[in-house]
Amino acid sequence: RASARVEDLIARMTIAEKVGQLVLLSSNRAVTGPYTTPDVTGALERGELGGIFNTYDVAFTRQLQETAVKHTRLGIPLLFGFDVLHGHRTIFPVPLGQAASFDLKAIEGAERIAGREAAAAGINWVFAPMLDVTRDPRWGRIVEGAGESPWLGGQIGAARVRGFQGERLDADDSVAACVKHFGANGAVESGRDYTAASVSERALREIYLPPFKATVAAGVRCFMAAFNTFDGVPGVANRHLLTDILRKEWGFQGVVVSDFGAVEELVTHGIAADREEAAKRALTAGTDIEMQGEAFRRDLPRLVASGAIPMAVLDDAVRHVLTFKEELGLFDKPFGRMDEARERTALFAPAHRQAALELAEKSLVLLKNDRETLPFSPDVRRIAVIGPLADDRADTLGPWAANGQPDDAITLAAGLRQVLPKAVVEVVSAGSVNGSSPEARAAAVAVARTADVVVLALGEKSTQSGEAASRTDLGLPGDQMELARDVLAVGRPTAVVLFHGRPLVLTPLVKDAPAILSAWFPGSMGGLAIARTLVGENEPRGRLPVTFPRAVGQIPIYHDHLRTGRPPTNPPRPYTASYLDEGTEPLFPFGYGLSYTDFGFSPPRISPIVKAGEPIAVAVDVTNTGRRPGTALVQLYVNQPVAEISRPVKELRGFQHVALEPGETRTVTLSLTDADLAYWHQDGRWATDAGRFRVMTGANAADLQAAEFTLQK
Ligand code: IFM
Repeated sequence: RASARVEDLIARMTIAEKVGQLVLLSSNRAVTGPYTTPDVTGALERGELGGIFNTYDVAFTRQLQETAVKHTRLGIPLLFGFDVLHGHRTIFPVPLGQAASFDLKAIEGAERIAGREAAAAGINWVFAPMLDVTRDPRWGRIVEGAGESPWLGGQIGAARVRGFQGERLDADDSVAACVKHFGANGAVESGRDYTAASVSERALREIYLPPFKATVAAGVRCFMAAFNTFDGVPGVANRHLLTDILRKEWGFQGVVVSDFGAVEELVTHGIAADREEAAKRALTAGTDIEMQGEAFRRDLPRLVASGAIPMAVLDDAVRHVLTFKEELGLFDKPFGRMDEARERTALFAPAHRQAALELAEKSLVLLKNDRETLPFSPDVRRIAVIGPLADDRADTLGPWAANGQPDDAITLAAGLRQVLPKAVVEVVSAGSVNGSSPEARAAAVAVARTADVVVLALGEKSTQSGEAASRTDLGLPGDQMELARDVLAVGRPTAVVLFHGRPLVLTPLVKDAPAILSAWFPGSMGGLAIARTLVGENEPRGRLPVTFPRAVGQIPIYHDHLRTGRPPTNPPRPYTASYLDEGTEPLFPFGYGLSYTDFGFSPPRISPIVKAGEPIAVAVDVTNTGRRPGTALVQLYVNQPVAEISRPVKELRGFQHVALEPGETRTVTLSLTDADLAYWHQDGRWATDAGRFRVMTGANAADLQAAEFTLQK
């Protein structure tokens, strides 16, 4: 049972009012701001609407909230939802880029700012974080998540939830997080959106669910069910996921919302004969709120009145929604997040821009730097910035940029002008992302010839990553590789800056280009972060949260794969797990990233016998062996050599940054617990075995040293 207020309301509500609480409709967004359709306004005025999404300013949300609170029979306040994936108005790097920072504090801080800005715009509920683990970069939504490691996904997901929700969910500057897409959305077949996730219960438990479970422990109050099927049943109708696991096993008491129109899609999936059956299947499986659809609002009243759905089932869903509103403080302070003065000062505040700059700097990953091409001298006089992404504001922000304004964005060209005020910065787009002409490339070459140094700005447009942005060819789009070759042939010191939302297949580029910096889609302050890094005002320290393949045919390729009875050999021998035409190693392993200096790592030190229940300490000495100060990321992986089932060759279980002056050595101690060694046993239990374990530490998943210990129970 819920609070007395909620129970009292439920006792007084009509069926139509109850169903209304389970309805979430979109306002429309136009150049002049959002507005509601007559359908939405009508439902609102009748007290038959629980929430509106795509709303984002105080004047508008106040007007809607006033109708709900002051002019409906029961005065139940509205939820206002919005997709805030990497910032609201101040746009941070895309989530995959943020994950490359491996900086949980900075990520939590970014979401605190995003939550504060969203709350200052009247929003109380964000459809984020996205927690889908994926090993398929063809899937465009990989940009929204934290990459391939379930454990890292959980750490980052929990940090994001804490950031959005702050100390108190009912505070005027907090918003409720909604984790998505439950479940196994990252396993969609062929990397295409909305297809089936055909994975085993073990993969579900060990790969796709851990980030979600971690956020329940962090206090998340909302789950969004996935579009895709898991084991043949779409998320919104998947009782195994929504009821058996989420509510019964994990004890989750918050709300479950469908994805956009997903309840009606049960008919298209062929698991409901019509809309009415779809509504019944979704509600009884555990979906509380239908996002943008007709099934709940048109069909549930009749289904409940006729007894086809028990009133108790409807009441339970209403209880979840009203309790969610109560936890958000909406009954006591329905207008608490609606303050024009705060809205004016909070959005894109200087401190928020500074945080976006710092996180963008931490997200940059230096992939190659031959002959110390980077950093460029700050005294450079002429710099050519060539390529379709040199000066594009929207592509600097990236996909799902919520209420981000392209005009706010500092592009790479603008950043270089700011950092090198005395230099001539010449910009040549040389065509678009998808194509250039021989003349455009010739013009680019001519400019490169006059420059001291060249920056090639290549990669994807923001619309080539994100929802429904799957790709089969993961090379540089269009003829960008030709442009790169023509410009590189000029022979000036040249760095490639890549804009992208997924691992790209960079094999030809890596062969030809001396220096490559991955910028992801870096957000509002991105161009400044990149420029500062190119001239050495910032040391690159990002590391890849996802493996980069050499060829699309290697996908899926990820660090925590299982062993094979016939391991690949080099050179390949017949009847081994190899390709005839490509190696099995990735182009860049998980955790990879260079610095402007070099680091040396000692082997890990660990007590050979560890007692169950006691913390496990792993010590590593790290030395800056280069000539510049820098920050290393010590990574810790574990493996169980023998178990009841084959275990991954290595799984990330810890990391720590260490800042070092040239020649300095420091000891870093990382700690593990038994829970970090647990796995899903054949009898359906999470448990840790006693016995032998291996820890591996070092610079990335392919550059590790190992030590063993025995866990005694
Ligand atoms: O939150 C999103 C979801 O991730 C994809 N479909 C639409 C929703 C609301 O915009």
